[in-house]
Amino acid sequence: MSDTPVTVLGLGDMGTALARALLKAGFRTTVWNRTAAKAEALVAEGALRAATVAEAVEASPLVVVCLLDHDSVRDTLAPVAKALTGKAVANLTSGTPRQAREMAAWAADQGADYLDGGIMAVPPMIATPAAFVLYSGDREVFEIHRAALDALARSEYLGEDAALASLYDIALLSGMYGMFTGILHAYALIRSQDIKAADFAPMLGRWLNGMSGAVAGYAEKIDSGDHARGVVSNLAMQSAGFGHLIEAAEEQGVSPELLAPLGPLMARRVADGHGHEDLSGLVELLHTRP
Ligand SMILES: NC(=O)c1ccc[n+]([C@@H]2O[C@H](COP(=O)([O-])OP(=O)(O)OC[C@H]3O[C@@H](n4cnc5c(N)ncnc54)[C@H](OP(=O)(O)O)[C@@H]3O)[C@@H](O)[C@H]2O)c1
Repeated sequence: MSDTPVTVLGLGDMGTALARALLKAGFRTTVWNRTAAKAEALVAEGALRAATVAEAVEASPLVVVCLLDHDSVRDTLAPVAKALTGKAVANLTSGTPRQAREMAAWAADQGADYLDGGIMAVPPMIATPAAFVLYSGDREVFEIHRAALDALARSEYLGEDAALASLYDIALLSGMYGMFTGILHAYALIRSQDIKAADFAPMLGRWLNGMSGAVAGYAEKIDSGDHARGVVSNLAMQSAGFGHLIEAAEEQGVSPELLAPLGPLMARRVADGHGHEDLSGLVELLHTRP
């Protein structure tokens, strides 16, 4: 059995996967869930059941929290605030950067060390090489509890600002949803002509893989602020062509609503005199604060 006991608060799909990974890695694992019955399978596998949150917190120096959202974390931890003194809290519940900073400040007020985390995986991926978890907050706490955290997934520490894990998590998910919206729109178009999505899928996959060079290519332009360097498809041309995408969708009886927001942004950037530049320049229109 590994020497550091670990507590897991929250046994939904993700919390259960985390607790199971800790058990499999040999950690003495105490579990608590609001609906107690969800602990039964884990207890049968060797987990220790805590009857209350206070008992769960008491059991281990490291408390992994994986609840639904920020409010459920506050509701669960606030009544046991005193018991958290001297504990390390690794909050892997999804939330915003502001909520992460708020939790870090609250934990500090209780005398607890705090790590915020973003799980980049779905439950079946936990403890497999495909999963990783982002961490930010107290570096020393991360290092002290590294063995337990590594049992969940590959750990990536981002920095002392507790908000970083959430920021990266949300940026990665935003990139993912952007890709998903394009994929769904493409399939709707194909289906409008009674073509099977599965027949089109290999070509779409090849195309998207080919276009993934934009990740690094745009990054270079965004960091330098020079969107005019090495342009192979200028924005004025892309903006004109984008009109065809909307028109074609409407002709095919497909709503362009997933795609449409890009059109006015492109047109605005062209009207501002950036038609010779790359699409990467749209990022300059997105900041709402100076
Ligand atoms: N599942 C995924 O694919 C995935 C991937 C990455 C990150 N995450 C994040 O991981 C976290 C947990 O996700 P999940 O998939 O485990 O969700 P879930 O299956 O819906 O479980 C939610 C958990 O939160 C608890 N809970 C909800 N409201 C509560 C409250 N007011 N007080 C105390 N406990 C409360 C639930 O307890 P009861 O059992 O009593 O309802 C349950 O343990 C979320 O923040 C999610 O965004 C999930």
